[in-house]
Amino acid sequence: MKTEKPYVLSLIAVIGPKGELGANNDLLWHISEDLRHFKALTMGHTIIMGRKTFESLGKPLPGRNNVVLSRSGLTLEQALAQEKAQAADRAKTQAEVFIIGGAEVYRQAIDLADRLYITHVQAPLPEGGADVFFPEIDLSVWKETGREDQPRGATFPYPFSFVTYERRPK
Ligand SMILES: NC(=O)c1ccc[n+]([C@@H]2O[C@H](COP(=O)([O-])OP(=O)(O)OC[C@H]3O[C@@H](n4cnc5c(N)ncnc54)[C@H](OP(=O)(O)O)[C@@H]3O)[C@@H](O)[C@H]2O)c1
Repeated sequence: MKTEKPYVLSLIAVIGPKGELGANNDLLWHISEDLRHFKALTMGHTIIMGRKTFESLGKPLPGRNNVVLSRSGLTLEQALAQEKAQAADRAKTQAEVFIIGGAEVYRQAIDLADRLYITHVQAPLPEGGADVFFPEIDLSVWKETGREDQPRGATFPYPFSFVTYERRPK
């Protein structure tokens, strides 16, 4: 059966205790377990990102359909319309499309999203702190549906948790 929205729209991010996302167009921490988690979830799917995040990555991420938003190019609405058309073409109901940042794109997409994959990190911030933040996760809108707590990584010495949130039914 075709649905109005033939994909699940998911935001995926790694954030600090106050929603800290990045500084100087880079991530705040590099956690190898989180990179693996990100790769496992997004592989084979479309990933949508802002132009600055794309520049920070430096190259398209392999094995994924990389869609980059720019006001001199593709808008978020156009990117999502494109996904809708392609998902319908592939007759794939409920494919998953990932918004991978950054702050400006998360702010616009959170009200459209069905699911959030958030890695919550309990670690000190690098000197200078963060200059971009994830929007507030309102627990009256979002329900935690999955959690995996890690006391530390193999080389990252602080706790972090992989948490999934689903939008509550209206
Ligand atoms: N912690 C995490 O999980 C995570 C994930 C991703 C990124 N980050 C961090 O986030 C920071 C980057 O975030 P940011 O907010 O500065 O930038 P961003 O969201 O990556 O990119 C912003 C740019 O995207 C384009 N854009 C945004 N909305 C658009 C729309 N509706 N239509 C068309 N184009 C649109 C514009 O490009 P033009 O200027 O070309 O028009 C805008 O300047 C970096 O520090 C990065 O490391 C963190």
